[in-house]
Amino acid sequence: MVDQKTPARVGAGAPTLGRRLTRRKPVEKLVAETESGHGLRRTMGFWQLSMIGIGATLGTGIFVVLGEAVPVAGPAVILAFVLAGVTALFSALAYAEMAGMIPASGSAYSYSYATMGEFMAWVCGWCLMLTYGVSVAAVGVGWGQYIDELLRSTAGLSLPDAFLAGPLEGGVVNLPAAVVVLLSMFALLAGVRESTRANAAMVAVKVAVLVMFVAIAVTAVQDGNFAPFMPMGMAGVSAAGATLFFSYIGFDSASTASEEARNPQRDLPRAIMFSMIVVTALYCLVAFSAVGALHWTEFAEGRTSLAGILTVVTGTPVWAVVFAAGAVLALASVVLVVLYSQTRILFAMSRDGLVPRAFSRVDAKGTPRANIVITSVLIAVPAALVPLGPLADATAIGTLFAFALVNVAVLVLRRTRPDLPRAFRMPGAPVTPVLGVLACAYLMFSMALSVWVAFGAWLLLGLVVYFGYGMRRSALETDAPVETGA
Ligand code: ALA
Repeated sequence: MVDQKTPARVGAGAPTLGRRLTRRKPVEKLVAETESGHGLRRTMGFWQLSMIGIGATLGTGIFVVLGEAVPVAGPAVILAFVLAGVTALFSALAYAEMAGMIPASGSAYSYSYATMGEFMAWVCGWCLMLTYGVSVAAVGVGWGQYIDELLRSTAGLSLPDAFLAGPLEGGVVNLPAAVVVLLSMFALLAGVRESTRANAAMVAVKVAVLVMFVAIAVTAVQDGNFAPFMPMGMAGVSAAGATLFFSYIGFDSASTASEEARNPQRDLPRAIMFSMIVVTALYCLVAFSAVGALHWTEFAEGRTSLAGILTVVTGTPVWAVVFAAGAVLALASVVLVVLYSQTRILFAMSRDGLVPRAFSRVDAKGTPRANIVITSVLIAVPAALVPLGPLADATAIGTLFAFALVNVAVLVLRRTRPDLPRAFRMPGAPVTPVLGVLACAYLMFSMALSVWVAFGAWLLLGLVVYFGYGMRRSALETDAPVETGA
């Protein structure tokens, strides 16, 4: 059953603005909500959660964005991966601590609600819409590139250019990108158990094709391709690192499945860390073999996809076709899992009254149907119209901000609620969460001004929605007493 609360009447005795913005949702309440009466079913164990983490992470970042980052950093793109990976690792540790303590499907949004109050929770949830919603659109665009490549090379088929890109790139609409989002919508409507099975199979395929890539490309590695290692200096490495941060986004998806996990406190921290280890190892190997096999200057000449590198290295298109087929499945799994995560975050925000109740209504099978349909259709629009670059950058900056908040949440709860049982403790705290915040800030400040402008506009829109809707409909508006900021 879904929590139904009447919207508040603000009258005599209504909380002041300051109290409303800082009211916190007690950890115990968050945990209690996840344990009973929420309507989602607990079906997942460690492997399914890990498959969600890996499924959501390995995708367009490594399959497409890597090629775009090489001209920015040169062979030092390997360092850029390490820089982004270290930033992601701090946040992964913070996520593991928070997810083991507050296994709520709202993920970072719920952690912020428990620690920094409603306003920061809203800002976090709003940023997570970039992390998940916009990244689904970005990955959909990457999928479109590979399906086009695959159809051309195998069947000689090609959609007219007008249907392969949105208006900003000279086309009309990116049809494949919108189609993959809508196909994932149908998979999610079929139910979580079915979706997780499909996801696990797709994860196996994408790990296999990336290992195949490394095995082939590494045979062509030449020392000379690594010199000069850092042609654009540290500025190039930082800029590429900020862009490549996109490729690490997703390990956190497992935390959005916590209300469908059988033993979230035990399995979530392990699944998050396991996903990070697998993904980071693969990224470093792929980056090393890619820039080792092909001189970095050639990445700017159109042979930027990993499939293209395989053709150059082997002299035959066969492996490229196998790789492209794997990539098509791989990217579809990212779309599926990340879309799933977005629906669960909206589910949590809706249960709190901050977005309309339709998002937390579930059917008899426990599937939030209206949520899935509305979210998918809204995401299909930017997927159809906006190019990959701006979508990936918007995803990265929003995520960096949300991840910084998770690190802050660890710091706050260590101080305010040292008594809470923690299934996993972030090692080295409080130093590590502070480093986590600084690493996120460093990458954010490495992003272009245009990305900041878009991010600012998104936040502004978020404020309008919060003050116009969420603040007044918040479930805490009628709950008394509320905790307020410390
Ligand atoms: N990390 C995900 C990807 O690279 C978003 O596709």
